[in-house]
Amino acid sequence: MSGEATSAVAPSASAGAPSAHLRLDGVVSGYGQIKAIKGISLHVETGEVVALIGANGAGKSTTLRTISGLLRPSAGEISFEGKRIDRVAAHDIVRMGISHAPEGRAIFGRLSVLENLRLGAYQRNARAEIEQDLERVLTLFPRLRERVKQDGGTLSGGEQQMLAIARALMARPRLLLLDEPSMGLSPVLVETIFRTVIEINRAGTTILLVEQNAAMALQVARRGYVLESGAVALEASAAELRASDLVRKTYLGEA
Ligand SMILES: Nc1ncnc2c1ncn2[C@@H]1O[C@H](COP(=O)(O)OP(=O)(O)OP(=O)(O)O)[C@@H](O)[C@H]1O
Ligand SMILES: [Mg+2]
Repeated sequence: MSGEATSAVAPSASAGAPSAHLRLDGVVSGYGQIKAIKGISLHVETGEVVALIGANGAGKSTTLRTISGLLRPSAGEISFEGKRIDRVAAHDIVRMGISHAPEGRAIFGRLSVLENLRLGAYQRNARAEIEQDLERVLTLFPRLRERVKQDGGTLSGGEQQMLAIARALMARPRLLLLDEPSMGLSPVLVETIFRTVIEINRAGTTILLVEQNAAMALQVARRGYVLESGAVALEASAAELRASDLVRKTYLGEA
């Protein structure tokens, strides 16, 4: 099949460098015959926040789903901490240290906040550690602490978003994949979510952040990639992306 990456542009830092925390090389993935991503190469280094921005349908969520093993790439390679993961089952990828807070919240509406959070740790055995992490995420999101007994489905949209992120953290990931954490939130809550993303990163978790809110994402991230029609259109530092014409006109809504 065709559809291989034709781009010869390789990030210069990669040549001969130690293996990145996360690396995608020419990844092709999609749904049946539909190739939603067409040869994506990107890397995330330990400790970074990297933004993935792009319009509706650009392939951002597909990229995250492919990394987390929900979709299997038809070509290309994905490695995490030096190990190939593109043939590893999703639950094993979680065990290896990657956790995904998917788009659209995807929490369990009939389970309580506490039960949702505990489910995030379902692959872990160390009870004491799980209790510590529970305490940590409830400190990170005080709104959730006030509502631990409430059913997930009765939370407000913003609270559900917090729950989705908190649940992903309960797996104690070294790499957190966040899909549009600010979607549908009020400006105040967007601020809260982004401040929390920074806190999570400072506490040692590497983050790949998908956002349509490019302005926010590029404040939080160190570097970023712009996806267009399933391919990387631009890769640069956050500062360079903020200054680029493409990003300013298309994603920051500037004239
Ligand atoms: N389950 C699916 N079945 C078939 N096609 C899909 C499916 N999910 C996504 N697609 C298609 O794959 C392409 C990429 O979608 P994706 O969800 O990755 O985009 P996105 O960048 O996350 O967009 P958005 O900003 O709207 O969330 C789109 O053309 C979309 O229609
Ligand atoms: Mg999406």
